[in-house]
Amino acid sequence: MPSDADTGCPSEDIDAFFAAQERKDQLRFVICGSVDDGKSTLLGRLLYDSNTVFEDQVSAARAESRTYGTQGDAVDLALLVDGLQAEREQGITIDVAYRYFESDRRRFIAIDAPGHEQYTRNMATGASNSDIALILVDARKGILTQTRRHAYIVRLFGIHRVILAVNKMDLVGYDQDVFQSIVRNFGALAGALDLTGVTAVPLSALKGDNILVRGGSTPWYQGPTLMEVLETVPVGDGERAGAFRLPVQWVNRPNPDFRGFSGTVASGSVRRGESVVVSPSGRQTSVERILGPSGDLEEAVAGQAVTLTLADEIDVSRGDMLATAERPPELSDQLAAHVIWMDTHPMLPGRPYLVRFACASAVAQVTDLTHRIDVDTLGRFAAKSLHLNEVGYCKLSLDRPVPFDAYSANRKTGAFVLIDRFTNATVGAGIAAFALRRASNIVWQDMKIDKATRARAIGQRPCVIWMTGLSGAGKSTVADRVEQKLHRQGMHTYLLDGDNVRHGLNRDLGFTDQDRVENIRRVAEVAKLMVDAGLIVIVSFISPFRSEREMARDLLEADEFHEVFVDTPLEVCEERDPKGLYARARNGELVRFTGIDSPYEPPLAPALRIDTTAMTVDQAADEVIRLLDADPSGVAG
Ligand code: ADX
Repeated sequence: MPSDADTGCPSEDIDAFFAAQERKDQLRFVICGSVDDGKSTLLGRLLYDSNTVFEDQVSAARAESRTYGTQGDAVDLALLVDGLQAEREQGITIDVAYRYFESDRRRFIAIDAPGHEQYTRNMATGASNSDIALILVDARKGILTQTRRHAYIVRLFGIHRVILAVNKMDLVGYDQDVFQSIVRNFGALAGALDLTGVTAVPLSALKGDNILVRGGSTPWYQGPTLMEVLETVPVGDGERAGAFRLPVQWVNRPNPDFRGFSGTVASGSVRRGESVVVSPSGRQTSVERILGPSGDLEEAVAGQAVTLTLADEIDVSRGDMLATAERPPELSDQLAAHVIWMDTHPMLPGRPYLVRFACASAVAQVTDLTHRIDVDTLGRFAAKSLHLNEVGYCKLSLDRPVPFDAYSANRKTGAFVLIDRFTNATVGAGIAAFALRRASNIVWQDMKIDKATRARAIGQRPCVIWMTGLSGAGKSTVADRVEQKLHRQGMHTYLLDGDNVRHGLNRDLGFTDQDRVENIRRVAEVAKLMVDAGLIVIVSFISPFRSEREMARDLLEADEFHEVFVDTPLEVCEERDPKGLYARARNGELVRFTGIDSPYEPPLAPALRIDTTAMTVDQAADEVIRLLDADPSGVAG
């Protein structure tokens, strides 16, 4: 720790001190465990013994120890880190917190993630930002289900090195056999998970044994103290050793003579003159200049923010990736990945989410949830959806090819998040396993006869009229009348009706949220094909979710999709109850019935809203047809 200026230490010592500070590297570690294991006490001990806390914080903790503490008259060190009032009152740690401390050799960032199962997502966030993990176990309890979960999550997020901190040794009489049996049990788990570097330390966070100083109570332990391990584990080697990757964050073009590409080197290094490839374009060139904050550099390494200029005038945009030409990234629109679900609304395979990689974003759908992994037992189970904190292995399909790497090769460019397109909430974190197929393997075939040609031949402007609303709202009745009227005008039409399509193409689907998503995904694709065939397609499905109606809209051209909200109040639908389904739903014979125990999300801005309580079927059908007439290109050709 720095000496105070008033201790009168000579200035060359101060210079030496600052020089040493400059050279210090930094270790980020996630600390996994719960308050019961003594996690907060251990962190408090590290902060306190390394003199990182200020005297006033200690005084505050001393005062609060009397109210909340568990240590009698002694300072409860846990209170130095349990920053939130709520967590003190509940006695649990609820968010991810970053604690900074340092020794003479290193700076540390301890990422403090709660250990309870409901906070698995927080731990995942912590692990994804860490070099190593410290897994804390209570010597009295040994390896628990939660230890297995912690080890699994840590490994999933690419951490190979683990410190197994066996705490509360004082409560088991510093018994060597207890320690060794825990180490053996953890060894079996580590082997199964391929955790290669495990260092176990017996300690007492409360008494301070083997944290900064070797405790006299464990004469049988010859290994390093916790601080010695923290000070000596290698850091940052993985990122620096990896292949060069620079996600372009900004195209820097201050004048016509200069065009630089700025970003932080995600991994590896690059030297002036080296060959680089631009992904996705695949264009190759070499690095002309590397500009750092204080001028030209010979080389840039992982973690540095730089601007590169290239030898050739090639197109590079924000979101592209500059990479070593020797080992270019994957470029694909299909990938296999582990996903940890972070939202209270479950994952819905087929629903379009926004996927964001280090570089680029795209719209992604989970096309296949291969299995769910029980993070406690590591067993694999069939699943149709993932709920909060669950981990699954799935296949994703993107709307365009995106550059990325397998997470095992690159933690920066192999990670992604999934974002809800409506709420903008991060709903999942993903770990890319591999590209399922190179984008170039399947190419779009351009046929000679296209949509416009087909439409001209039948003399109409193809489109989709998408009718949404509750069961019994009158969608099918209005749709049927619209089709009759168009037919009389000589139009070529097709009516896709929920009940009918569910007898064939979608016979395998029920009414869970995920089945409804798939139901709409399929019918939207079919509608698109029919539009391509030149038809006017009337879709009459409840289609209860905004997301999937938007997906249908996105599949078509802007003027080809007309959303019609058949807005009949639930009470009216229920009173009409043409199929007797509402009565059955109310009796509990039918579950997940829309409007009763399954949600309906009304359109926010439909092209047309039909109130069937105020209009006849004919009037409603005419309004719908007017929508097509309003289309500047007209219904008829
Ligand atoms: S959607 O929600 O997936 O779009 P879809 O329009 O295909 O539904 O099918 C709805 C029709 O299925 C309803 O009109 C009704 O006849 C029937 N049905 C049977 N069970 C349910 C249910 N649980 N919820 C809604 N509709 C149901």
